[in-house]
Amino acid sequence: MATMTLLDDLGIPVLAAPMAGGPTTPELVVAAAAAGGLGVLAAGYRTAEALAEQVAAVRQTTGTFGVNLFAPNPVPVERDAYDTYRDRIRHDAERFEVDVPAEPREDDDAWQAKLDLLVADPVPLVSFTFGLPSDRDIDRLRKVGTTTAQTVTSAQEARAAEQAGVDLLVVQAPAAGGHSGTLTPEHVPVDRPLPGLVAEIAATSRKPIVAAGGIMTTANVASALDAGALAVAVGTALLLSPEAGTSAAHRAALLGPDRGSTLMTRAFSGRPARAIPNRFLASHHGGAPSGYPAIHHLTSPIRKAAGAAGDPDYVNLWAGTGYRSIRERPAADTFADLTSGL
Ligand SMILES: Cc1cc2nc3c(=O)[nH]c(=O)nc-3n(C[C@H](O)[C@H](O)[C@H](O)COP(=O)(O)O)c2cc1C
Repeated sequence: MATMTLLDDLGIPVLAAPMAGGPTTPELVVAAAAAGGLGVLAAGYRTAEALAEQVAAVRQTTGTFGVNLFAPNPVPVERDAYDTYRDRIRHDAERFEVDVPAEPREDDDAWQAKLDLLVADPVPLVSFTFGLPSDRDIDRLRKVGTTTAQTVTSAQEARAAEQAGVDLLVVQAPAAGGHSGTLTPEHVPVDRPLPGLVAEIAATSRKPIVAAGGIMTTANVASALDAGALAVAVGTALLLSPEAGTSAAHRAALLGPDRGSTLMTRAFSGRPARAIPNRFLASHHGGAPSGYPAIHHLTSPIRKAAGAAGDPDYVNLWAGTGYRSIRERPAADTFADLTSGL
């Protein structure tokens, strides 16, 4: 089976998880392949053309990689809630002298254009998060020989993904950094450890599982594999590697004084995501409505301006629960550490 070959052929059972917004670079994906694992490019927020450039850059060195897409699953924001939240963050926009959109902006992250690109110029693996694509879209990729994967956060979502026909499941625990891939973002995922979630899904699913969320040590890798995963995916552990495109503001927060435990918050994007606390969250965590991507677009000008100014207090500092243990070192060292003695 193609899926088994893709994961079984890896020298180490570790994927560099997709991290949109900068951290995932072709260099990081290449470093994962060089370590015997597999890296996944993050297509989110990029145009199809920019994705094509990244695919070409990776192919100069390796053919072993994947691409992650945000599959459409819009949660339209209620108009009053949008206006109230816009008002609430007004002083932050003033601080950075930026305008924030008066009208809610919805989009599908150029879903069809990226899908068309990946059908015309196939890659070994395509993973989906946020939404579950139609059977037809999954079939288009399968027909060109691509292995498909779906991020799921519960046994119910795993069943839906299996029925839709994906080849493998990325089982993501709430400890994971960045957005939760939950298919029902109106509900904030409830904390639960990764091994238990993997075991529950492995007990009923026939699909190979990649486990993600809070993997920081070899012991974490071993527990995920023991629970039934064929491989793990790590994001946060790689954020400080030189190959990652993590922004200066994000790096400064990761290297600076302890900011406390991460929070699952809608404040930046209207969709639950795990982040390190900062001043923006201190003011607005809990105050944001559900509504992706409209809230993402609303706060984007503030986050961009803060990022350009190197100010970690007004950017989305995505990170998983294990962020305090990460170190500034080549990705190869992190992969070696995660798999030594397995
Ligand atoms: C900065 C950042 C960006 C992320 N972007 C994406 C993304 O574009 N697509 C996706 O499916 N998951 C994304 N994630 C989630 C990761 O793919 C993965 O599930 C998570 O990092 C695993 O947990 P860990 O951070 O504890 O290792 C992101 C995570 C982080 C930290």
